[in-house]
Amino acid sequence: MGREQFVKKIVCIGAGYVGGPTMAVIANKCPDYKVTVVDISQERIDAWNSDSLPIFEPGLQDRVENVRGKNLFFSTDIDGEIADGDIIFVSVNTPTKTFGKGAGKALDLQFIEQTARRIKENSTSPKIVIEKSTLPVRAAETMAAILHSGENSVRFDILSNPEFMAEGTAIQDMENPDRILIGSHDTPEGDTARDELVKVYENWVPREKIITTKLWSSELSKLVANAFLAQRVSSINSIAAVCEATEAEVTEVADAVGRDSRIGAKFLKAGVGFGGSCFRKDILNLVYLCEHYKLDDIAQFWNSVIEVNDNQMERFVNRILQAMFRTLVDKKIAVFGFAFKPDTGDTRDAPAIYICKRLLEERARISITDPHAIPSARKDLAGIDGGAEFTEAPYEAAKGAHAVALLTEWDEYKDLDYQKIYDSMSKPAFIFDGRNHLDHEKLFDIGFNVYPVGKPALTHI
Ligand code: NAD
Ligand code: UGA
Repeated sequence: MGREQFVKKIVCIGAGYVGGPTMAVIANKCPDYKVTVVDISQERIDAWNSDSLPIFEPGLQDRVENVRGKNLFFSTDIDGEIADGDIIFVSVNTPTKTFGKGAGKALDLQFIEQTARRIKENSTSPKIVIEKSTLPVRAAETMAAILHSGENSVRFDILSNPEFMAEGTAIQDMENPDRILIGSHDTPEGDTARDELVKVYENWVPREKIITTKLWSSELSKLVANAFLAQRVSSINSIAAVCEATEAEVTEVADAVGRDSRIGAKFLKAGVGFGGSCFRKDILNLVYLCEHYKLDDIAQFWNSVIEVNDNQMERFVNRILQAMFRTLVDKKIAVFGFAFKPDTGDTRDAPAIYICKRLLEERARISITDPHAIPSARKDLAGIDGGAEFTEAPYEAAKGAHAVALLTEWDEYKDLDYQKIYDSMSKPAFIFDGRNHLDHEKLFDIGFNVYPVGKPALTHI
């Protein structure tokens, strides 16, 4: 199909977990638009153009294969695609800053700034520039300052369109979103740009699900949505600690509380703590923002969500240590699951990283199994004293182990032959179910000493 047959050209800068899947969905739903995803990483772009995509996400392969080469393209020609594009999504990474002012809290905006400069340098026609990355409030002001600096007289309109998809369910979240949020400046030009983006989403999203707000509200809403979700996880994990002390059961409490329709049942699963590339980073950014505006009590409130999460991981390690006679030296622990959640190979900020490091510090021997995250796990633990073994076979990981620690609730772990696992382990055999994923009574009957989260242990000792 010739380029002239497309109504508009969309370019997405950043071919990561967000850029790749979002653009695959847009290209499928909007055959009249040409969609090109660009990145500085040749390796990533090559993978997007191959049969082996750079990320594992259910349903993604189909969506990509359906339109790749028709109206979906992956390229490293960033400058050429910017020059040619009408609508430019910016979807580069915005990690927590690790140096200088704001280190450990503020977002590192170097990739955003590089992108803004590149857009400016390569634009000779008007562009709508869309913040898809998660950014601090008023980031659009900085973008505008760069884009409109110097001699360049090209028109740029900036919109905020944060992404709410979760990994593992990215495709269904994008194809059937709860809402699409578009923030724009309250000016006639801002309205026109906003309507252009609304038109894209209206190809498959009902108009009443497309929320339009002021730009700063949209930027802030993204941080707040993640903070609220993470706060629920920390709330239930804090109650799990109370349950462990009192012999109440956290799943029963979560059910009783969550059935109040004002509270709702979702995001009330106690576990080893939340992970992933965004919850911690976005809350830290909210904390930084509050501190900047001298809202110290608010900063402290949100910071406590992270503190509870950190303590939850440490509590899990302590439970292992206490149960296993206060020493792990030379004991083998099989770690079931390393990804920060099931259905993804992503291990960014996974609780497993912290927990495995702590187990190694206690001089345990660990054998890690995961269906998709072993390559990342190897990198995450590279160079750590004590080393770790890695295998995709759970039975292999458990052979000769003193304990199993389940850290990711992969479906396949439910269906394993736990009698076979028990028979292959050292006795007494322990199982620490960090996600309350397994049938605890059954495991106890087999002979395991079972330690769930937020519930009394079932032990033979
Ligand atoms: P990612 O690290 O997977 O992908 C970012 C990509 O941007 C990388 O491939 C990198 O090479 C590329 N990049 C960096 N600088 C570039 C430049 N100057 N020019 C071209 N390419 C460049 O990150 P991600 O997980 O896709 O997240 C992207 C943004 O979306 C972040 O702000 C994140 O907070 C937000 N977000 C992520 C998720 C998620 O589930 N991962 C969900 C919602 C929002
Ligand atoms: C989260 C949000 O859910 C998305 O809306 C958002 O777009 C995304 O962050 C982002 O900005 O990156 P994601 O991190 O992919 O998505 O995964 P979640 O399903 O939110 O899970 C995050 C962590 O919380 C996981 O480690 C998960 O195991 C944990 N969790 C979640 C619990 O421990 N209990 C729960 O009840 C729910």
